[in-house]
Amino acid sequence: MENIQVWAVILDESALQDELYQRALTFVDAESQAKIKKFYHRVDSYRTLIGRLLVRRMLVKKGISLSQMTFATTQSGKSYLTAQNSNPPIAYNVTHDNNVIAMVVGPGRTNPPAFGLGIDVMKTRVPGKSSINEFIEVVGDQLSQQEHTILQAASTDDEKTRQFFWMWTLKEAYTKAIGMGLGFDFKRVEFHPQERLVKVDGQIPVGWKFRMFVLKDGEDQYQGVCADFMGNSEQAEVLPENIEGNSSWLSVEEGVPFLNTAMSVLHT
Ligand SMILES: CC(C)(COP(=O)(O)OP(=O)(O)OC[C@H]1O[C@@H](n2cnc3c(N)ncnc32)[C@H](O)[C@@H]1OP(=O)(O)O)[C@@H](O)C(=O)NCCC(=O)NCCS
Repeated sequence: MENIQVWAVILDESALQDELYQRALTFVDAESQAKIKKFYHRVDSYRTLIGRLLVRRMLVKKGISLSQMTFATTQSGKSYLTAQNSNPPIAYNVTHDNNVIAMVVGPGRTNPPAFGLGIDVMKTRVPGKSSINEFIEVVGDQLSQQEHTILQAASTDDEKTRQFFWMWTLKEAYTKAIGMGLGFDFKRVEFHPQERLVKVDGQIPVGWKFRMFVLKDGEDQYQGVCADFMGNSEQAEVLPENIEGNSSWLSVEEGVPFLNTAMSVLHT
């Protein structure tokens, strides 16, 4: 298992029946169930439930039965598989936003036990009713000066929105790969999307590979980035955006078929 894989699920909330939810819930551990049930909105429960089922189905496919899997989280909340015998060990990370849930899986190369793999996905849309300029003003202190300059030079608001979400999802993927999430100052990570150039604390980091991807949900578009700390001595590489269906490492399923196949795989 040399390379990473990304599995994404696209939810159509209206197609999700309560019976399916209750049944799917029985395939995750009691701690996950408690977390999932706490959400006020059912769609939030679904996102976390599907994220956890993506991990469990992947592990079954790799020969680890549901009863053999045990999980733990780091102090900052990054989940990992404990007591694993796989060689190389299995690394994974999960993200969700609106209708999309995605998991990255790959060889655990560096920084056990949670390893240096991270993923983030976001819908390409300014939340609420604000404009992209208003939104950038709100989160602006988490962007570097050069990122502000790039955004100011964007020719249209749509272009600016896309550039912004590349910057943001790369920052999140990087900080999730190192396991710190929002505990790491986002301003320290700088991304120039057109040049595909990443800097951390002003330097191109060594040993990293980033992958940009795009998913479509009807008219809506999502942008995502995977961050993989390979631990080699090469300067960070950013692989360009892969449109869904055009990539050997990215696969997409719909919510209901995903839940049905996950349950049948986990049952055996
Ligand atoms: C991780 C974090 C960035 C998630 O942000 P987000 O954009 O809202 O969420 P995403 O959808 O991309 O990711 C959510 C998933 O990230 C994973 N996750 C949680 N904490 C994580 C961490 N520290 N590193 C990597 N992944 C993490 C979980 O699998 C979670 O899914 P689940 O809760 O449904 O199981 C944010 O919750 C965070 O920063 N948490 C840690 C903060 C912290 O404790 N800092 C302490 C200082 S080190």
